[in-house]
Amino acid sequence: MKAVTLHAYGAPEVLQVAELPMPHPAPQEVIVKVQAVAVNYADLLVRQGVYPMIQQFPAILPGEISGVITATGSEVQHLQPGQRVSGYAPAGYAAYAAMPVAGVIVLPEAVVPAQGLLTQSLTAQHLLEQTSGYRSVVITAAGGGVGSQVVQLARIKGIPQIIALTGSAAKQQYVRSLGATHAINYRDSDWLQQLTNITGPQGADLILDATGGDTPSRLVTALAVNGTLIIYGNSSAQPSSVNPRELIMKSARVVGSTVYNIPPVQRQQWTDYLVQLIATGQLTSKVNSYPFTEAALAHQDVENRHNTGKTVLTFPD
Ligand SMILES: NC(=O)c1ccc[n+]([C@@H]2O[C@H](COP(=O)([O-])OP(=O)(O)OC[C@H]3O[C@@H](n4cnc5c(N)ncnc54)[C@H](OP(=O)(O)O)[C@@H]3O)[C@@H](O)[C@H]2O)c1
Repeated sequence: MKAVTLHAYGAPEVLQVAELPMPHPAPQEVIVKVQAVAVNYADLLVRQGVYPMIQQFPAILPGEISGVITATGSEVQHLQPGQRVSGYAPAGYAAYAAMPVAGVIVLPEAVVPAQGLLTQSLTAQHLLEQTSGYRSVVITAAGGGVGSQVVQLARIKGIPQIIALTGSAAKQQYVRSLGATHAINYRDSDWLQQLTNITGPQGADLILDATGGDTPSRLVTALAVNGTLIIYGNSSAQPSSVNPRELIMKSARVVGSTVYNIPPVQRQQWTDYLVQLIATGQLTSKVNSYPFTEAALAHQDVENRHNTGKTVLTFPD
């Protein structure tokens, strides 16, 4: 079978297509014929070695997949070949991948493979549920995978003020189409002024940032008294700092968040909710598809901020 492999950590060019043997299922695994692989930002960090998850090179890049079960391990009882599923696979960037049953999500017919890649939606749902009673939310990288889900879920929740920060005019247009009440290009030199003009003296109740660098400390200027800044990523790879005095004066809090710490029961409830929203067309994604042979280009485009919505690799039927 074909797979996207790497021989060392590094730039996108380390991703290469190779011919490898088919995987066999361990007792608690299924084999999935992969139709789509999510290019999640975390994949870039694994490839770069920021998340040093690879035990031995050469390796198939791990990733989130969706496809059809072709075989089940000897101890698997509740899943069968032919079922459409998604989830995380330790060697996911491949035409066939072994997936532990514990993480398998069964997809209904109405959810196409790319839309069944749920990590970005689940991250967005988790972020919006970490505080309550808020009337305004600010989101950076709002035109990306997680960001575009935050904008839509905030609209579905009825949050009155949804302020989307993005890195291009095209992404501004996209987030408006998803329901953002305001869209700002934070490459504009006066973006913070534009933001505080919108939030006014009251400030924003909830601010979500995954870019890092000096952005979080600047965003605190627009935070409300008793507001919450959630830091859930660091796409700029630059260290962040926030002035404690500003937090004290606002009785504000800064918290970190990861989708990987959601308790299993909660994860299942939110997964069911998100699948329902996707199946009924209430939650969508603009999908940028690349053939798996162009995995390096897909990584490059996300790294260069050229992506809008969800980026996926496809494998032929
Ligand atoms: N904590 C968690 O559980 C969790 C889960 C999933 C993802 N994440 C994090 O959430 C963020 C978004 O993930 P995603 O998969 O949805 O990716 P994405 O948003 O689709 O792509 C990354 C986006 O980040 C923005 N960005 C800002 N500064 C950047 C820089 N210096 N270099 C590259 N990109 C920059 C770009 O959008 P603009 O050009 O519009 O700024 C870019 O398109 C990532 O930081 C990821 O690590 C965290």
